[in-house]
Amino acid sequence: MAHFDPRTYRNALGQFATGVTIVTTRDAEGRAVGVTANSFNSVSLDPPLVLWSLARSARSMAAFEQAGQFAVHILASDQDELSNRFASRAEDKFAGLDFGDTGPPRIPGCSARLVCNTRHLYEGGDHVIMVGEVIDYESEGRPPLLFHGGTYADRIAREADAPSPPVRYAVEDRIATITLNRPETRNALSEEVIGALVAALEVADADPGIDCVVLTGDGPGFCSGGNIKQIKALTAEQHMSPMELENWYKTQIQRIPLTMDRMSVPVIAAVRGHAIGAGCDLACMADIRIAADDAVFAESFLRVGIIPGDGGAWLLPRIVGLAKASQMMLTGEFINAAKAELYGLVSEVVPAAELMPRAMELARMVAQFPPAAIRKTKRLIKDARDVSLAEHLDQAAIWQGVLQQMDDHREAIDAILEKRAPNFQRK
Ligand SMILES: Cc1cc2nc3c(=O)[nH]c(=O)nc-3n(C[C@H](O)[C@H](O)[C@H](O)COP(=O)(O)O)c2cc1C
Repeated sequence: MAHFDPRTYRNALGQFATGVTIVTTRDAEGRAVGVTANSFNSVSLDPPLVLWSLARSARSMAAFEQAGQFAVHILASDQDELSNRFASRAEDKFAGLDFGDTGPPRIPGCSARLVCNTRHLYEGGDHVIMVGEVIDYESEGRPPLLFHGGTYADRIAREADAPSPPVRYAVEDRIATITLNRPETRNALSEEVIGALVAALEVADADPGIDCVVLTGDGPGFCSGGNIKQIKALTAEQHMSPMELENWYKTQIQRIPLTMDRMSVPVIAAVRGHAIGAGCDLACMADIRIAADDAVFAESFLRVGIIPGDGGAWLLPRIVGLAKASQMMLTGEFINAAKAELYGLVSEVVPAAELMPRAMELARMVAQFPPAAIRKTKRLIKDARDVSLAEHLDQAAIWQGVLQQMDDHREAIDAILEKRAPNFQRK
């Protein structure tokens, strides 16, 4: 029995970088068998001997024990998905691969491939050590796939080089923070940002583990609205007809207000810097808006000869009233944070450094309540815009009937009576 902590030992071993291979053979019936292994080593050049080890628990053990030959494929750096497939217990690991009819199956696209005659099998604790003599070798010279610290080392490098996502999504304490991530354009709503934003909102809403969303922008501005260059290109380069433009609005930017409007989980917009045009409207789609003291809002569509195409003329009057909304939309005037608060466009203005802490504080205040009641409260507020008082009360009565039968409601009452923090079971 080892006298050290096995977990620490495993962690230490994980610090070794190893290459990743797939070893293949055929079973007694000639069926292709393969397994991912990083225990591969060259042990002798003359004769050319290599070894690798296979866990006794592996399903492929019987096939390798009886096989006279096996092939070791040193994987290329882009073959991590193949590595995962052969490390799984999938029924048909070779699906879609052209691996040949005779001899050990051949996996294409690898860094190198060694064909071996099985020389020895050694007892190796919970593994069997397989030693093979290399009888054939070919190399494609591709960089190898490395395994390090429990993951593919090359993948870490590739992810570091990868372009940053248009929208970041992070979850903490049942609060999803969605951050527009194109600071170089002040988070203009390009097609890639629209797609990523809609996807992130849908993920948050579909996740019953999320109780509140904070929506913000990276860099100095919240959102500078539609991407002017992309909008110009629609007519100047793509020569879109009126019908095509109509379709573009419906399939692009208008997905944002429709998604926001359908959501049940509340959204808090934390606005710093510019919220201009569609950026101003984006803030208006949120349930709660707070602003940094450097925030600037404008309904700037007329400045470029167009109208709010994303619901602004519907949203803004419902927030600040018809007169102020009309003034903003017809003049395009820039509104600073203090005026935005005065207009009721935002509910709070805080120093810029306190914007995200305050937004998170508000989100935590929301998220402290029973999840079903949070979502139903938001829906009740949203749906109330479009129905009569009688219809609204009807909806409220039905939902209340459900909520008051829920354990979380009883727990909330018990916690108040017993002067303790509630422990909601989300049911
Ligand atoms: C990067 C990596 C390296 C691995 N190295 C080995 C290894 O050296 N020996 C081994 O027995 N299993 C290793 N495995 C696990 C096997 O691939 C896995 O248990 C597989 O399901 C066995 O397949 P089988 O049960 O169909 O034989 C490794 C898995 C990964 C992802």
